[in-house]
Amino acid sequence: MQYFPIFTKLDNKPVLIVGGGEVALRKATAMLKASAKLTLIAPEFCTQLESLAQAQEITLIRAEFNAEQLKGFMLVIAATDSETVNAQVQTAADEQNIFVNVVDDQPKCSFIFPSIVDRSPVTIAISSAGTAPVLARRLREKLETLIPQHIGPLANLVGRFRSQVKQRFSHFADRRQFWEQVFDSNVVSEVQKGNEEQAYTQLQQMLNDTPAPKGEVYVIGAGPGDPELLTLKALQLMQQADVVVYDYLVSDEIMELVRRDADLICVGKRAGDHSVPQERTNEILVELAQQGKKVCRIKGGDPFIYGRGGEEAQVLAEHGVSYQIVPGITAAAGCSAYAGIPLTHRDHAQSIQFVTGHCKKDGQELDWQSLAKPNQTLAIYMGVMKSPDIKAQLIDHGRSPTTPVAIVENGTRKEQRVVTGTLAQLDELVTQHNIQSPALLIVGEVASLHRQLAWFGNTAQTSSLAQPLTDVA
Ligand SMILES: C[S@@+](CC[C@H](N)C(=O)[O-])C[C@H]1O[C@@H](n2cnc3c(N)ncnc32)[C@H](O)[C@@H]1O
Repeated sequence: MQYFPIFTKLDNKPVLIVGGGEVALRKATAMLKASAKLTLIAPEFCTQLESLAQAQEITLIRAEFNAEQLKGFMLVIAATDSETVNAQVQTAADEQNIFVNVVDDQPKCSFIFPSIVDRSPVTIAISSAGTAPVLARRLREKLETLIPQHIGPLANLVGRFRSQVKQRFSHFADRRQFWEQVFDSNVVSEVQKGNEEQAYTQLQQMLNDTPAPKGEVYVIGAGPGDPELLTLKALQLMQQADVVVYDYLVSDEIMELVRRDADLICVGKRAGDHSVPQERTNEILVELAQQGKKVCRIKGGDPFIYGRGGEEAQVLAEHGVSYQIVPGITAAAGCSAYAGIPLTHRDHAQSIQFVTGHCKKDGQELDWQSLAKPNQTLAIYMGVMKSPDIKAQLIDHGRSPTTPVAIVENGTRKEQRVVTGTLAQLDELVTQHNIQSPALLIVGEVASLHRQLAWFGNTAQTSSLAQPLTDVA
């Protein structure tokens, strides 16, 4: 593209025309249409320019051109009948990085005047980059006949509603749909007939009658912490949200990826510190969706694995709120992979049980008999505080005290720590190494593979883990 089309706002901006004849007069008239602050320089001026200067605010300077005079101008037009003067203007303007147009000498121009179809505020500019001005003019004539005169007033009317519509429909797609309906409605024919007040009332009516867009909740699993473990779908929906409702478990790096101008609401949960009760979180989700908001309910790991995503989905369904569930990598999968502990292994574990150490107060006791069986792995969520009880119950129900265990703290994050030992040492490991939340307990023979495989796990994840794993066992 030889010339890049831009529309400039010349309102009160300093523009210089070098020349005092008819060509200069033509350019001056065009510049005044755009309300430019106009100065003309020439040894003498034609009578029409003299009278224009009396009627309008134009500065006429009777002098030969010199490069000094260009200072402070945004645009300059060389419109003299002397090729030498025009060339001097061009050279001086180029040297001072001022846009210059030399009339009828396209190679010397850094900007050119397009042919214009003016339906202000709608303006169409056509250019052939100076190669075929007649062709450009014919094209303009064609467009003049095709584009109705009422386009200008229609654009003005629409402009009066822009901020109202933006407020009502926060999403671009919803706004576009509304405007498409307006342009297909008889608001357009009213403007065409010149009934602008009627058109205004009708458009206002359409805006009042169009139901607010429906809200939606995205229940998103953000994985255990490494932002590279987010799914593409999670990322896309995080970028669309008007509001993000999040827990403490969602890492800061992941929160960095939500839409910049989204509102953030923390409903964080930590063991023993439920800053917002679950019932209130459910209400918040319903209320926001009913206000027409796209709500991103983001959770650590997977929403349906110890994430209370099931309860939230039930409440949303009960209230007829539309929602999507986006699975995430659960802590057991993420932590075990980053710690080099396969959850199943043909020689060591044929099954895996996900267990919570933190049951509902009036909930069922864990089935210790089943959990204590050999050749299986237990991935225990929220088990740190209950580790003495977990150890005692498993040993009492027959699991060998020498069963290997691993504790993965801050799994998949830069500060990940892995502590290993035996089931008999489980609670001691927690206190000795001052294990902090979030941490996952892995019980089973596979935990012994950490020493052997952590290296491979590590090499595979070096990009995600800035520091090496700390094997403190
Ligand atoms: C309320 S549960 C949420 C589980 C989550 N929905 C998931 O699928 O991973 C919180 C527990 O998950 C485990 N957890 C979550 N993220 C972890 C991480 N990055 N490292 C270690 N454990 C984690 C811890 O046991 C923590 O106490």
